[in-house]
Amino acid sequence: MARQILVTSALPYANGAIHLGHLVEYVQTDIWVRFQKMRGHACWYVCADDTHGTPVMLRAEKEGVTPEALIERVMGEHVRDFAGFLIGFDNYYSTHAPETREFANLFYARLQAAGLIERRVIQQYYDPVKNMFLPDRFIKGECPKCGAPDQYGDNCESCGAAYAPTELENPYSAISGATPELRDSEHYFFRLSDPRCEAFLRRYTSRENGVLQAEAANKMREWLGAEGAHLLTDWDISRDAPYFGFEIPDAPGKFFYVWLDAPIGYMGAFKNLCARENLDFDAYFEPGSKTELYHFIGKDILYFHALFWPAELAHVGFRTPTKIFAHGFLTVDGTKMSKTRGTFITAESYLAQGLDPEWLRYYFAGKLSASMEDIDLNLKDFVARVNADLIGKYVNIASRSAGFILKRFDGRLAAADAALPAIRAIQEAAPRIAACYEEREFSRAMREIMALADGANQYVDNVKPWELAKDPARETELHVACSNSLNLFRLLTVFLKPVLPALADKVETFLNVAPLAWESIATLLPAGHSIRPYRHLMTRIDPKQIAALVEANKANLTAAPDVAQPVAAKTGEAGNTVIGIDDFLNVDLRVARIIAAHHVEGAEKLVRLLLDVGAENPRQVFAGIKSAYDPTALEGRLTVMVANLAPRKMRFGVSEGMVLAASGPDDATGGIYLLSPDAGATPGMRVK
Ligand code: MSP
Ligand code: ZN
Repeated sequence: MARQILVTSALPYANGAIHLGHLVEYVQTDIWVRFQKMRGHACWYVCADDTHGTPVMLRAEKEGVTPEALIERVMGEHVRDFAGFLIGFDNYYSTHAPETREFANLFYARLQAAGLIERRVIQQYYDPVKNMFLPDRFIKGECPKCGAPDQYGDNCESCGAAYAPTELENPYSAISGATPELRDSEHYFFRLSDPRCEAFLRRYTSRENGVLQAEAANKMREWLGAEGAHLLTDWDISRDAPYFGFEIPDAPGKFFYVWLDAPIGYMGAFKNLCARENLDFDAYFEPGSKTELYHFIGKDILYFHALFWPAELAHVGFRTPTKIFAHGFLTVDGTKMSKTRGTFITAESYLAQGLDPEWLRYYFAGKLSASMEDIDLNLKDFVARVNADLIGKYVNIASRSAGFILKRFDGRLAAADAALPAIRAIQEAAPRIAACYEEREFSRAMREIMALADGANQYVDNVKPWELAKDPARETELHVACSNSLNLFRLLTVFLKPVLPALADKVETFLNVAPLAWESIATLLPAGHSIRPYRHLMTRIDPKQIAALVEANKANLTAAPDVAQPVAAKTGEAGNTVIGIDDFLNVDLRVARIIAAHHVEGAEKLVRLLLDVGAENPRQVFAGIKSAYDPTALEGRLTVMVANLAPRKMRFGVSEGMVLAASGPDDATGGIYLLSPDAGATPGMRVK
């Protein structure tokens, strides 16, 4: 029976570009959706830009445009990037839309009627220069636990502690640099601590209920605590003006917090699709609906999707999600994506370099499973895997047989051998591979498919069409061998189609067949079927392309400032630029010990320094100090370096930072004086 399925991916923020980390999620969801559609189910995939909140408001202000203009532009970029990676949304919408506003108001009214909204005056940090209350992410200060400087108002990136912004030592506004003041403000809360919510959530998120992955259900148990522990606290759903969002009905100057209307945006996007496609919205959202609802999300937003969202739905009178699928985070070459290393790769730059989106789709598929574990994009492995599997194993099957059929048999196939073990093996694997897709065990599916492709290649290796072709007496054998190969290729294409939709499309054209569905696996191409000219299906990755991609994303650095950066610097009296404290703190100055210093062959001014900055690996820095210092005299002494400077490729190697030295207007009159800290400083200490 055809299922009715509604699928969502998390709504990307409208204040940033889509990057490869995001794509893990959209590719994962898209593969799953395409699989369901191939199976003949009614499966709708909706998404939208998550448009509201302070960061969008501030960025628009900085760019001198309205928030509406900003989100419209960004949405255009997102739509372009997603299309580039073949993400087949049925509707890509915006949370800044009438449908979403109406639902947000409805949620609010019904929660209020159910006694689940409470008003309470709270104290919050206020920026007296910028005249606004500060979200936690816009307050910085020293961590109350470990003392690390410049930590955000909600948690410490150095020691991992979570705290309230009021606990920060020496807090300052990341917007203006001003010291924030505590002020009173009335806020609206969703009463998650209400016994009704807690009882519902205990049931809903339990392992037995099966909505969540086991790991996620365990996390929930942690968050809910033991029966009677009452760990859930009420959720603050309002923000004070100025704010870009939906104003709360009958509460002028108060807005819904972005995370209140974001998941409601799923419904808004679907409602909008229903109007277009003539679908019955209520059939999908009424309590007890027989339709299925799935949310694909990253593990970082589990709290919102597994607690707040279902608790709201249940008490507003809608159905709750059938399942919530959380995935892990993308790392590149084993570490967090990094702008300095050039591994914070945007979707746009990947496509602009001329890289094939299906390479990445396949690589991600080969790594994805139903677990919440992080997945690593190893750039070397990426090249090797794609070239070996997609070109070496899969495309190879077609390219070895197509020519003979076209040249020797007028493009017509002979009847394939239905009993051929390689063909039987593929057909028998279909239910297993379908189960892998259904369960989001894509990496297992890819392994199985490639093992079957190995079997197909072995068949070709054994019959050796290139030898049969030399012997006119073996014409029929050649015809059957090549027809078998192309049938094997067609069957494998069915399995790979959810992952490689554009390639499958080319194959359908080449094989001259209707769009392949999952059930196509049961049939073979009939004798006499004619194929079309073979055109190149996919090229190999050249490692140079990957090097260029990483380089391009390093170059992006200065062009893509962070949203949390302070307002434009003002020019002071002396003609020097005046900067905010945050500008200064963006420079990571560290005490460094010079472990080794050498002359650089062929460089007049440079000394190559090896610096210990308290980290595992020493840093190499090329410093223009040769005129003033003998390298051997430098070894062992302490100095100060800029530790977060983007690495720079030089003729002699990569320079990973800069040491600080004083100098006069020119070498002749000034000289060069390397800075040193006072005695007692040790490598790695922050200078500020
Ligand atoms: N706007 C919220 C989601 C609202 S859903 C009602 C948000 N946006 S986001 O742009 O930060 O992230 C969108 C999705 O991409 C999230 O599910 C997030 O987990 C995922 N990812 C963002 N960076 C990622 C990686 N580096 N790796 C894997 N997934 C990542 O959160
Ligand atoms: Zn800390």
